This record gives sequence, C-alpha cells and structure tokens, in this order.
Amino acid sequence: MTKTMKKVGIIGVGKYLPSKVLTNADLEKMVETSDEWITTRTGIKERRIVAPDEATSDLAVNAARQALDQAQIKPEDLDLIIIATITPDVQFPATACFVQAKLGARNAICFDISAACAGFIYALAVAEKFISGGACRNALVVGAEVLSRITDWKDRSTCVLFGDGAGAAVLGEVQSGGILSSYMGCEGQYTGLLYMPAGGSRIPSSQQTLDERQNYIKMAGNEVFKIAVMSMVEAAQTALKQAGLKCADINWIIPHQANLRIIDAVSKRLGFVNAQVYLNIDKYGNMSSASTATAMVEAAQEGKIKKGDIVVLVAFGAGLVRGSAIIQW
Ligand code: ACO
Repeated sequence: MTKTMKKVGIIGVGKYLPSKVLTNADLEKMVETSDEWITTRTGIKERRIVAPDEATSDLAVNAARQALDQAQIKPEDLDLIIIATITPDVQFPATACFVQAKLGARNAICFDISAACAGFIYALAVAEKFISGGACRNALVVGAEVLSRITDWKDRSTCVLFGDGAGAAVLGEVQSGGILSSYMGCEGQYTGLLYMPAGGSRIPSSQQTLDERQNYIKMAGNEVFKIAVMSMVEAAQTALKQAGLKCADINWIIPHQANLRIIDAVSKRLGFVNAQVYLNIDKYGNMSSASTATAMVEAAQEGKIKKGDIVVLVAFGAGLVRGSAIIQW
C-alpha cells in the first residue's frame, strides 16, 4: 500500500530587523569606499546591525513570534524547529535549542542547518519532508544571521556587503498548493572561495588567529560572482522542471540578495521581467540565510504575493551551495 504524502505549505510568516541602520555614508567614514562604488557595484544603500546584547536566537525568536501569530499556532504545537544560520549564538548547542527555550516550544525537535545563503531554502526543503512524510505536523523554519559579528570592518571588499536580520515561516499541512518542489545542490570543491578560516576544529581561535584577522569572512568576490549566476539559474530551472512548470507560470522570483548585478543577470537568463523580481538588498544588504527569508516575508506582508501566486525562491552561497523552492501561496 502506498503512503499518501501530505501537501505542505507556509501558513505564517514573520521577520525581524534590528533597528540600527548603517548607511553607505557611515561606511565612508570607516574604510576607503564611497556610496557611489557600493551602490553601482552591489545595489546596497544601507544594512541593519544588531544591538550589543542581541544574538542570532533573539532575532530568530522575534521573527518566529510574528509567524506563529499569523499561523495561529501555539509554540507547544511545534514539532520541529530548524534555524538556518552560519552565525549561531555559540558553537554548540544549536541555536534552535535557544529558540525553543525562549518560545516555550517544548515539544519541538531542534537543529540548525549550515548552508549559508541557501540555508533558508535547505531548511524549508527539510521541514517539508518531515511534514509530508508524517513525522511532524507543524514546523518553524527561520533564516537568522548576525553577520556583523564575523565581518572584518577593516576589509572594504567585504564589510560593505553584509547585514543582520531574520525571516521566519511556519509550515503545516495545506489542502492545495504549498511547496511544489525543492532542489538543493553543492559544489564542495569551492569551499576556499568563501569561508571563515579560524574558530573551528581545523584552526581553533587563538590570539594569533585574532591578530591575523582569521575569525572573519574571507571571500574571493570576483570568483564567487562568476559561479553565482550559472548556479542560481541551474537551481531555479531544476526546481521548475521538478514542479512541471515554466517561467511563464511564475508570478514572483525571490532571489538571494547578495548583489543587484547577480540578481539582474539571473532574472534575465530565466526570462523574468523586473516587475516580477522582489528586492530588499538596498535596505538590508546580504544577510545570508535571512535574505531570501525576509524577502519572501516582506513580499507576502506587502500584499505583493497573492493567494494562488506561484513564487520561486533561489539562492547561492558559501559551500558553494545552491537551492531553489517553488511555492504556491
Ligand atoms: N570600495 C571601493 N573600492 C572597492 C571596494 C569598496 N568597498 N571593494 C573593492 N574595491 C576595489 C577593489 O580593490 C578593486 O580595485 P582594483 O581594480 O584597483 O584592484 C576594484 O574595486 C574591483 O574589485 P572587484 O572585487 O573586482 O569588484 P567586483 O565588481 O567583483 O565587486 C563584489 C565585488 C561586490 C564583492 C562582487 O564580486 C560580488 O558581489 N561577488 C559575489 C558575492 C556573493 O554572491 N557571495 C555569495 C553569498 S555570501 C555568503 O554566502 C555568506
């Protein structure tokens, strides 16, 4: 007898952005850069930075409460919490455990996913499989990052790019639509293009690693850029094919917000017009896993995504990982 798979969809969304704004003009006072360079090369105008007493789980909890309210789900009814992050509160335990405690979601299985900018899509895909297979009923998925704490504020080639934030989704069974397909991929031969050298088991943190600024993001931006476009196009095309859909069937593309030039190239190659591309890169910069999450949440909260609309989420990041999900609202 074949087991019927449940349809799984997003039943509530939420976001949280720290209140402190760091503008390009502020960065001009910190490193040798200009608003003109940052705007034309990346599309970023400003980004948010956490307060000194805030950590990733605090951002995640604020976004999660909004999503739970909209879904009308009590924390104790959550069976699963997945936090997508590369900036956990601590090395262990998982940030999801801190989120569970703060929410009072005592019945939830908790773990983190480290898939950088594609983390939110990876987490959605994993949660969908837990629910569709019947292992869970309700899941909370959050993309949350405090990249400002692993950003080298003396390195102009990276410090202008990143910001902090969180976007959350509650997933549950739906009668129609929902997550139509998802795709995850990785090209591990490119780990050296974008990583944080120290602070793990290979090179534990020491005074020397701190002095050499090895506890910060290192990126070969130009190399990453070249791979990003093809990788995101392939990811979206694979997810579309799995769902039996074409670009013409899609209402919105919600891409990872790393660079406006990457987004433009990806959207054009896929055949989308500008009006179908949701952007928030100008306000928040690159928030890794929180970028696709907050962009999806804002598009929904602003009423841009309407009931029945089909959206494609697509992202790419350190790993190098890529992912795409096709969701009918
Ligand atoms: N201000 C002024 N000049 C700068 C700055 C700055 N902030 N940063 C670099 N420059 C200079 C460089 O020194 C270089 O000068 P030179 O020509 O005299 O040597 C020049 O600008 C061009 O530098 P490039 O690195 O070639 O600039 P590029 O056009 O590639 O833009 C950028 C850099 C924005 C980083 C781009 O390569 C990019 O977006 N890459 C992809 C990022 C990405 O997608 N990352 C994945 C997700 S992140 C994650 O997973 C955590």
